[in-house]
Amino acid sequence: MELWILNGIILWIAGSTLHDPVPELHPLRFKDLPISRLGDLEVFLQVLANMYKKKFSSPIIWNTMDCLEQSSLTQQQQQFQVPFFPIGPLHKLAPPSSSSLLEEDGSCITWLDKQSPKSVIYVSWGSLACMDAKDLAEVAWGLANSNQPFLWVVRPSSVRGSQWIEQLPETYMDTVGERCHIVKWAPQKEVLRHRAVGGFWSHCGWNSTLESISEGVPMICRPYSGDQRVNTRYISHVWKVGLEFESDELERVEIERAVRRLMVDGEGEEMRQKAMELKEKVEICRSEGGSSNRALKELVEYISSF
Ligand SMILES: *[C@@H]1O[C@H](CO)[C@@H](O)[C@H](O)[C@H]1NC(C)=O
Repeated sequence: MELWILNGIILWIAGSTLHDPVPELHPLRFKDLPISRLGDLEVFLQVLANMYKKKFSSPIIWNTMDCLEQSSLTQQQQQFQVPFFPIGPLHKLAPPSSSSLLEEDGSCITWLDKQSPKSVIYVSWGSLACMDAKDLAEVAWGLANSNQPFLWVVRPSSVRGSQWIEQLPETYMDTVGERCHIVKWAPQKEVLRHRAVGGFWSHCGWNSTLESISEGVPMICRPYSGDQRVNTRYISHVWKVGLEFESDELERVEIERAVRRLMVDGEGEEMRQKAMELKEKVEICRSEGGSSNRALKELVEYISSF
């Protein structure tokens, strides 16, 4: 039997499988923990234990909101005993497009302008994810077969062994035609705000998660590493504004099914409804008197007091 202490919680690893819930960390399963393999657990828990042993002496600014994770924030606050400033979502405070990693292709906005409301699935897996030629083909045909218009971000050099999408057959573009728009990088916040966008297939990094939630766009989650799995679990099981792409392999049939579940089925409509409700909550947090707004004022006062 192995017992681990994490954040004052005893983890009972022996005899558990990856799909089992982690005791006291509802709704997380072992496979959702921000580690890549259980082999790394020892090191990971050591790092966490050290972090918690050190008393934090300075206040903490959080890029999150009370309405998203109030109970976690309260729990952490008790643990750390320092001033907390949950002032998120930060991207709504900072000037737009100040943080882009690659050059944004504005042509997608013109293309989006021509699509019907909430019809487009936006596909972008952030700044790190890579795939091979087989994955590229499966995603391409899965999206095509879903029969939904799609805006797909394929970063240069993100497909192994090629510059960009030259491994797609020439017939592909003829088949999908105007229904598809592929770019190297998109002005994501503007895309998510666009009335034509009805869903976001994301790796669920925290920035993408916050940006999608702030615009009321429901998600298909396919996490790769780190906190992306935790975010996915919250998106699908706590806030219920998205679904997890469960299969490990990217297969066209599964992709087509996931896109239709989100964009066409009643299930997706419920998530869209929930996403709109969450967006309203976030707006309340940010507006005068809301929790993020108050925290920001407190932060300003705190800084001015020196
Ligand atoms: C995430 O968002 C923050 C706040 O808007 C920004 O400063 C940061 O550069 C973003 N990170 C990435 C990887 O885009």
